[in-house]
Amino acid sequence: MNDQRSDMTLLRLLTCGSVDDGKSTLVGRLLYDTGNVHDDQLATLKSDSQRYGTNGKDLDVALLVDGLSEEREQGITIDVAYRFLSTDKRKFIIADTPGHEEYTRNMATGASNAHLAILLVDARKGLTTQTLRHACITSLLGIKNVVLTINKMDAVNFDEAIFERIAQEYAAFSKQLNFSEVVTIPVSARDGDNVVMTSERMPWYSGLTLLEHLESVSIDNEQLEKPFRFPVQLVCRPNMHFRGFAGQIASGTIRAGETVRIAKSGMQSTVKEIVTMDGVLQEAREGQAVTLVLSDQVDVSRGNMLSHPDDCPTVADQFQAHVIWFDEHPMLPGRHYILQTECDAITATVSTLKYKIDIPSLTRAASATLSKNEFGVCNFSLRAKIAFDSYQKNRKTGAFILIDQFSNRTVGAGMIDFQLRRAENIHWQKLDISRSSRAQLMGHKPAVVWLTGLSGSGKSTIANQLERLLHAQGKHTILLDGDNVRTGLNRDLGFTEADRVENVRRVAEVAKLMTDAGLIVIVAFISPFKSERQLARDLMEPGEFVEVFIDTPLDECIRRDPKGLYKKALAGEILNFTGVDSVYEPPEHPQIHVNTVEQRADYIALEISQYLNDNVLHV
Ligand code: ADX
Repeated sequence: MNDQRSDMTLLRLLTCGSVDDGKSTLVGRLLYDTGNVHDDQLATLKSDSQRYGTNGKDLDVALLVDGLSEEREQGITIDVAYRFLSTDKRKFIIADTPGHEEYTRNMATGASNAHLAILLVDARKGLTTQTLRHACITSLLGIKNVVLTINKMDAVNFDEAIFERIAQEYAAFSKQLNFSEVVTIPVSARDGDNVVMTSERMPWYSGLTLLEHLESVSIDNEQLEKPFRFPVQLVCRPNMHFRGFAGQIASGTIRAGETVRIAKSGMQSTVKEIVTMDGVLQEAREGQAVTLVLSDQVDVSRGNMLSHPDDCPTVADQFQAHVIWFDEHPMLPGRHYILQTECDAITATVSTLKYKIDIPSLTRAASATLSKNEFGVCNFSLRAKIAFDSYQKNRKTGAFILIDQFSNRTVGAGMIDFQLRRAENIHWQKLDISRSSRAQLMGHKPAVVWLTGLSGSGKSTIANQLERLLHAQGKHTILLDGDNVRTGLNRDLGFTEADRVENVRRVAEVAKLMTDAGLIVIVAFISPFKSERQLARDLMEPGEFVEVFIDTPLDECIRRDPKGLYKKALAGEILNFTGVDSVYEPPEHPQIHVNTVEQRADYIALEISQYLNDNVLHV
């Protein structure tokens, strides 16, 4: 019996809809009417139904499901709750993705391996914008099988016309969504009509019950049998004689003796052994955690991927992807995020936000940023190559999440469309002249002195003094500040968050080129965000970037107000003004921290020049 069961196909379901639509009741009803409720749960259900139920003396099956939400309220973090159900035809795993606010995040998490989505609507309300949003998101997440379940038919007198109207509206809407078929089922989850048992109260409906549909729907074969992918999570080297690569098989199967290809190097080897907690296996398949021992000494580290030689993942550092944004802070092209795949994590930037996808109209719109719960199509540029598949080909190896590098929050999720090729004929200019020979000629090494602080803090004054001082010492310098950059190169940028990110990114790139030329680059920009200052630091050689925090309190800047801008900003005449209605993130560990209230600008300039001479410039 057990063996037979383990061979049955498994269907992973995602339920979308709100509590008001009867989601818990529907899932509870499925569990209850299929006998998937333990005796002890049943006893609790009976007594809870009397106490808390909304169904009079009857059982309130929603309580079977809602029990878990209490755990959630107690602070146990469950992003997605899974429920298990089995009948003699199939096994099911239902991912319950609760929460109104966070539903996009939860859906994205729950959908990563779902075969089918149940979209729930209340017959009295019909299709709501939220239903249409859920349908769109489901489609964008690559789920092809969707069942529209029209609930609470008892509340509309089992009216066929109402069912027909909603079903037709849905059919019309879903034409654009790439679903494999349009299925609509009228149910009453509370009473059980057409959930597991055929309803006698809706004789006009001759289709399958929800369970019959779930038991018989054919799942895309492509989704079941995919090529072998083994993302390496860990290199195991417990002693000199053993070296294995540990991870979870993302898709496909592997047998001992088979040839594998290592994605990033293109090298091949043979699987000598498949080791697991339960001993050595001849064969392992999707979902199993194994350690593979190869017969050759090959270079494989965490983040690499093994496949069969005839069907390999792509290896690239640029690609296009669909992105869902979760975070309160918008996505900003040009900013560094940590892009995390099944096994790899790497810094990446959105090089272009190509367009935003409006949901539910699915129209495209140009945009500078993505806000919370918005979808967009972006080009990504990664710090190094990673191994991946397109999401369409493989939902596991084609998906990633984006993490904010300072807060560690997951801020978005992505689905890779395809690799973008760098123009292969553009190579880095080969620097025949070495940095050290340039430094010899200049008489000093290059450096970037990055002054950051509020408007009116004194950055430009100090920068000017510093440049004069260094010049007098015979050093080669250049000063970049708003005056010479915002009027030329960055003339197209304003002061929104997205524009400031781009402003600082460009300045960092220019500063980088100038250090290649051997110059001491003095940068004086508010540069309010930690992320972009980090980006600038990362571009330079180690030790070359000197961050100077011009720490003048806001009150003092307002008092000085050299350009009269604070006055206007405080009066609401200028928007997004740093310190007034736009944030300034102070550096945590600047190389130099100065106080312009207590110290004069020329002394500060002297202190900076001394730091440079002592630590950076010496050839
Ligand atoms: S940054 O934030 O993108 O680094 P940047 O240093 O280039 O700013 O420009 C700041 C200068 O632009 C300020 O000193 C001020 O003179 C002027 N400015 C005009 N509007 C704003 C604004 N909304 N916020 C801050 N500075 C502004």
